[in-house]
Amino acid sequence: MTDQGKILAVDDTPASLRLLTDLLKAEGYAVRPALNGELALRAAASNPPDLVLLDIRMPEMDGFEVCRRLKAEPATRNVPVIFVSAVLETSEKVKGFEIGAVDFVTKPYQRDELLARVRTHLELNRLRNHLEDLVEERTAELRKSEKKLRISLLDSITSLAAIVEMRDPYTAGHQRRVSQLAVAIAKELQLPVEQVEGIHLAGVVHDVGKIRVPSEILSKPGKLTELEFDLIKEHARNGYEILHTIDFPWPIAQIVLQHHGRLDGSGYPQALKSDQILIEARIMAVADVVEAMSSHRPYRPGLGLDVALAEIERNKGTLFDPVIADTCIKLFREQGFSFSV
Ligand SMILES: [Fe+2]
Repeated sequence: MTDQGKILAVDDTPASLRLLTDLLKAEGYAVRPALNGELALRAAASNPPDLVLLDIRMPEMDGFEVCRRLKAEPATRNVPVIFVSAVLETSEKVKGFEIGAVDFVTKPYQRDELLARVRTHLELNRLRNHLEDLVEERTAELRKSEKKLRISLLDSITSLAAIVEMRDPYTAGHQRRVSQLAVAIAKELQLPVEQVEGIHLAGVVHDVGKIRVPSEILSKPGKLTELEFDLIKEHARNGYEILHTIDFPWPIAQIVLQHHGRLDGSGYPQALKSDQILIEARIMAVADVVEAMSSHRPYRPGLGLDVALAEIERNKGTLFDPVIADTCIKLFREQGFSFSV
């Protein structure tokens, strides 16, 4: 009958300790007696009990100090401590609670009252520990399912991107390359890993709104009419509309909406200025222009990387964020960045 719980009983008076020990053993508890604080701490450290009954007035190390040390050790921090003492001033009780005791029993105690309190605190602590385990378990599960969710999110986004690119062969790979450059710029700017992940995903789908633009316009060789160009411009808002109902942990829809924004307000569709444009979208804008200019388009051959970077250089501070523009140029010129997708 020792599975009721392990109790450490501490009292410097052998007769009191004996009485307490016998009483608890008779109830089926596994009791370890300790005649002073030092022995109690050693016993608790070697095999943490489920509950401690602790005398306050003891020579050398008093009960308060024992309690304090138990609470300072991770292994015994959560073990409930009940003080058992003859003389108890209110101030002592307050002190006891402050250092972490859960209850007090006054000597001489009623057997039933003592046992009731022991039972209650053991049960309470069992529930508390169980709850802690449950929370830990659930957190681990959540983390696992969140990882799964992110993988399937990435899968869906990638297939969404593939659908757009299927209809518009000239921009095939454009989104992936823009994403690649935007991520490189974001990393160079030392943005947090989480934010870089959002930029990666936003980049992969930044032109998803083109799905609503007639494909003959998208692949039309030669110059576009103003009306056709207006239709193409709609892709930023279209992309936002496709994505904004999805509850991403990043502002993907906003980035897509703003990726044609320009610092001086000349961008579309909202004509936002400077800081009104998300940093993610400012990065995307630079990456988008560099990729688009350096690769082939239905209406013109690729202009080459030098022309693209010169365009960024010329318009930094007016159209493009100067720090982002410089970072992008540095990546190509000094760090040997090149598109690999
Ligand atoms: Fe775009």
